Formats: sequence, C-alpha cells, structure tokens
Amino acid sequence: MSVFRFMVFLFFSYELKSSELKYNAEMPSRITALSGSCVQIPCRFNVSELSLKNTESFFGFWMKKNHDFKISHFVFNGKTNKTSGFNNIEILGNLSQRGCTTVFYDVMNNHSDKYYFRVETKSSDWKYTYIDNPIEISVSDKPQLLILKPTDLKVVIENTTVNLSCSAEAPCPKQPPTISWSNIPESANITTQLQEKPDKTQSVFSHMTFKASYVDHRRNISCTATYPRNTFNDSTVQTTVMLRVLFPPKETHITIDPSASVSVGTNVILTCKTKANPSKNMNYTWYKRGQENQLDFGEQLTFTVNRKSGGWYFCKAKNEHGNGKSEEIQLIVAESLSLIIGCVVGVSAFLLIFLLITLFLRAKAIRETDISDQGQEKQVQISSIFANGAFVSGEELEMPKDENDIVHYGEINFSTPQTKSSTVKSSGQETIYAEVRGREKEMNQD
Ligand SMILES: *[C@@H]1O[C@H](CO)[C@@H](O)[C@H](O)[C@H]1NC(C)=O
Ligand SMILES: *[C@@H]1O[C@H](CO)[C@@H](O)[C@H](O)[C@H]1NC(C)=O
Ligand SMILES: *[C@@H]1O[C@H](CO)[C@@H](O)[C@H](O)[C@H]1NC(C)=O
Ligand SMILES: *[C@@H]1O[C@H](CO)[C@@H](O)[C@H](O)[C@H]1NC(C)=O
Ligand SMILES: *[C@@H]1O[C@H](CO)[C@@H](O)[C@H](O)[C@H]1NC(C)=O
Ligand SMILES: *[C@@H]1O[C@H](CO)[C@@H](O)[C@H](O)[C@H]1NC(C)=O
Ligand SMILES: *[C@@H]1O[C@H](CO)[C@@H](O)[C@H](O)[C@H]1NC(C)=O
Ligand SMILES: *[C@@H]1O[C@H](CO)[C@@H](O)[C@H](O)[C@H]1NC(C)=O
Ligand SMILES: *[C@@H]1O[C@H](CO)[C@@H](O)[C@H](O)[C@H]1NC(C)=O
Ligand SMILES: *[C@@H]1O[C@H](CO)[C@@H](O)[C@H](O)[C@H]1NC(C)=O
Repeated sequence: MSVFRFMVFLFFSYELKSSELKYNAEMPSRITALSGSCVQIPCRFNVSELSLKNTESFFGFWMKKNHDFKISHFVFNGKTNKTSGFNNIEILGNLSQRGCTTVFYDVMNNHSDKYYFRVETKSSDWKYTYIDNPIEISVSDKPQLLILKPTDLKVVIENTTVNLSCSAEAPCPKQPPTISWSNIPESANITTQLQEKPDKTQSVFSHMTFKASYVDHRRNISCTATYPRNTFNDSTVQTTVMLRVLFPPKETHITIDPSASVSVGTNVILTCKTKANPSKNMNYTWYKRGQENQLDFGEQLTFTVNRKSGGWYFCKAKNEHGNGKSEEIQLIVAESLSLIIGCVVGVSAFLLIFLLITLFLRAKAIRETDISDQGQEKQVQISSIFANGAFVSGEELEMPKDENDIVHYGEINFSTPQTKSSTVKSSGQETIYAEVRGREKEMNQD
C-alpha cells in the first residue's frame, strides 16, 4: 500500500515537475445524480499558454477514483472515444476553448465515486490530470429535496402579496424535472424556468405570486417535481407549505333560536356568526334598524320577545384587523303574524260568505223559474231538476270548498314569502352555522 502510494506520489511529482505550473479545472466538488438519469458536470480548465499557442487539439479523459494515470481506471478516453463502466459519456465542452463540460449517461448507484479530468494534446507533449479538482458524484435513487421558500412562511395579512418559490435540482439538464403546483390560490401567477446556479449546475426554478385572501387561510400549497428517467420509472418529490392568513371578520351573519317568527313572551337568542383570524377576543355589537345606539355587546343577543321586539337586526364583529357587518335579519313577533293570519282568514271568510250568498241566490232563482213554469209533468221534471240542482249544487258546494282551499293556499302563499325568506335564511344559516362552527374550532387553535 505504501509502495503504491509512493509510486503515485512519484508519478504526480513527475507530472507537476514536468509542467512546473499548477492548472485548474473548475467544476463543482460534488454533485448528486439520480439513478437512471444522466448527470452533467459543468467544467472549465486552464492549460499551458504554450499548448494553446500551438493551437493543438486536446483530448479529454475521465478517470474514476484513482487519478493515477497508469493505475487508474479510465471511464472515458477521448483519444479512442472509449467509455468503460458507463453506457455513454460525452464531452459537450469545446476543449479548444477550455470547456470540458461532460455528461455521464444512465448513472447507477455503483457509479458513486470521485472522478478526475485529464487533458492531453494531440502530440502528447503536454498532459495534465487535474488532481486538485476531483468531482464526487453521488448517485441516489431519490431526487434531491425541493427547496420551497420561504419554508417557514410566517402569517400574512389579507391582501398582501405572497411570493413562493420552489426549486428542484436538475443534474441532467437534458431531462430536467417538471415542476407542478397543487392547491394554488385563485390569483396565483406562476413562472417556471431553468436556472444556472453559481456552481454552473442547473435547477428548475418556479416562482408563484399571489394576493393572500382569507379563503387561503390554512391552505396547503404543494410543489411537486417529477424527474423523467430512462431506466426506471419517473421519480417525484414534493414539499408542502401551509399558508396562514390574518383577516377581519368575514361572512358575518345571524342565526336565530328558536326561529325568526316567535310569539310574545318567547326567549330568543340571536347569535352573530363570523369567520376571522384571529378569532379570539372578538368584539360583537348588536344593532336594530332605526335605532342609533347599539343594543348590546357580545356574541349572543338574548331577550324575551315583547310586542316591540319585531324588526330588523344586525351585528358587527370586530377583531384587530377590522370588522364585518352582518346582513339585517327580520324578527317577526306573533302579534304581527296573527294580524297577517287574521287578514287572510278574514278575506277567506268574506269569499266564503260571498260564494254562499251567490249559491243561495242562484238556488232561489232556479226555484222561482220552476214555480213560474207550472205543470205536473214539469213537476216531475222539477223534481228531477231539483235532483240535478242538488247534484249541481253539490258540485257547486264542492267548488267553494275548492276555492276555499285555493284561498287557503293563497293564505299560505301570502305568508310564506315572509316566513319563506326567513325559513330559507335560517335553514341556510343552519348549514353555515355548522360549517362556521367547525372552522371556528380550527381557528381557535391558531
Ligand atoms: C489556472 O486557473 C487558476 C484559478 O483560476 C489560477 O490560479 C492559475 O494560476 C491558472 N493557471 C494558469 C497556468 O493560468
Ligand atoms: C470521438 O468523437 C468525436 C465527437 O463525437 C469525434 O469528432 C471524433 O472523431 C471521435 N474520435 C474517434 C477516435 O472516434
Ligand atoms: C453497476 O451495477 C449494474 C447493475 O445495477 C451492473 O450491471 C454494472 O456492471 C455495475 N457496474 C460497475 C462498474 O460495477
Ligand atoms: C471549438 O473552438 C474552436 C476555436 O474557437 C473552433 O474553431 C471550433 O469550431 C469549435 N468547435 C466546436 C465543435 O464548436
Ligand atoms: C383587502 O381587499 C379587499 C378588496 O379590495 C378589501 O375589501 C379589504 O378590506 C382588504 N382587507 C384588508 C385587511 O385591507
Ligand atoms: C414578491 O415579489 C414581488 C415582485 O416579484 C415584489 O414586488 C414583492 O416585494 C415580493 N414580496 C415579498 C414579500 O417578497
Ligand atoms: C398575473 O399576471 C397578469 C398578467 O401577466 C397580471 O395582470 C396580474 O396582475 C398578475 N397577478 C398577480 C397576482 O401578480
Ligand atoms: C393542511 O395541513 C395541515 C397539517 O397537515 C392540516 O392540519 C390542515 O387541516 C390542512 N389544511 C387544510 C385546509 O386541509
Ligand atoms: C414502475 O411503474 C409500473 C407501472 O406504473 C409499476 O408497475 C412498477 O412497479 C414501477 N416500478 C418501480 C420500480 O417503481
Ligand atoms: C374589545 O373590547 C375590549 C373591551 O372593550 C377592548 O379592550 C378590546 O381592545 C376590544 N378588541 C377589539 C379587537 O376591538
């Protein structure tokens, strides 16, 4: 072993002496490659001015692990274009212009190693192994982790512009990864491009800008990079960031318990529901249309209904970021409700009486004509007509019933637009209520 090392030392001493000067190859000291893909090594080197003057063409070589020219294992020999241990190696750089960028194709885990670059002139009067600049290639089965910035995304206030960027290493720029975002906010603008890093390796960089909305609170935004591979299935890597948005009360609305139409003496609870972040230490204020002063403070407004309780109520919810006002909601007190019912009943009764009078008059008219048309036969006819009349009147008696029913329907229809709107509202509110509740629980955890 020591003999071997000594020989290596001798060899390099010789090479260094022969060239006298130290040359450099610029390349990253290490690079991570994905198995089944390629790896491109960005590389530049400097050479003796003399050899450049000769405008001689160069040959590039790559050696594995051991840079000892004699003992080493050549993975690529530019003189013969022979590749060993790899499917293919290609020097992309123009060696005459001191470019030595090289692609190693279809890398496998057992290719992880240190590699050295070497240059020789055509006439072999100048040769140099860049022993100070090896590159360590480590081959992994998993793509490198994405960088999502800012990783510890702090809470943002509603309407602020948020910038998220996601970058994925592209060790094989010929088959760069594709970046995709999921669960993105509506206003998001995304730009994606291949970027060169300071060490000349490449990465795919995707930038997303959006305006934070309250609906984005707790949104989990993911960035996924998919790497195509030749010898294996595509490989993906993903990172997720959860957005936290601070916002004033939104979707403020009122729920009424037990119902929007109540009778005098009932205890009603009006609850002000809202979405906000933070949702702790919120201040609520209650108002009634037509009254300048606030009625009360607190999330709930509780009172016993009296004749004057009917009307339109609304609430305002407030946190440190602003406030939200609910729509006005109507509370109908039974008194006014009975008034409506009374009106309807009155109208129906009137119609019923009117119909009965009409019927009575008609029956009377029939009887009078019968009396005027005297005769025995006709008497029989009369009885039959009476029977008919009874039948007809029976039918007609049913008619008013029907009409009454229609009128009754009318009553329901008449009162429904009012109760309907509030019923629909309250049922809608009930759904929202349940939803809000769930979220509120979440928000309270903030
Ligand atoms: C080669 O480049 C390195 C660093 O870029 C420099 O230190 C060195 O002097 C150069 N050698 C020659 C011979 O130009
Ligand atoms: C090696 O490959 C290069 C480019 O593909 C070509 O120009 C050159 O002639 C080849 N040399 C040999 C010895 O095959
Ligand atoms: C690397 O491993 C592959 C199989 O995974 C094998 O075919 C190849 O010969 C190995 N190469 C070296 C240099 O050991
Ligand atoms: C490499 O550079 C030399 C000198 O600038 C030029 O003549 C030659 O065409 C270049 N070769 C390629 C393949 O670009
Ligand atoms: C955000 O913008 C909306 C619409 O422009 C506005 O109504 C709201 O008050 C803004 N929120 C904040 C916290 O400034
Ligand atoms: C986000 O990017 C935009 C333009 O790209 C810039 O104006 C803004 O200051 C950036 N915001 C933050 C928080 O970095
Ligand atoms: C997204 O881009 C469009 C057009 O380029 C621009 O009008 C819009 O304002 C941008 N949106 C954001 C949130 O930056
Ligand atoms: C986002 O992810 C976190 C943690 O996994 C989870 O608690 C939260 O509920 C998610 N947000 C949404 C909107 O699903
Ligand atoms: C590659 O994909 C195929 C089909 O999607 C699947 O059956 C197979 O198990 C995958 N192989 C590996 C190594 O993941
Ligand atoms: C809510 O009211 C309390 C007491 O009146 C006050 O100290 C607090 O600052 C208020 N909070 C907000 C968000 O207005």
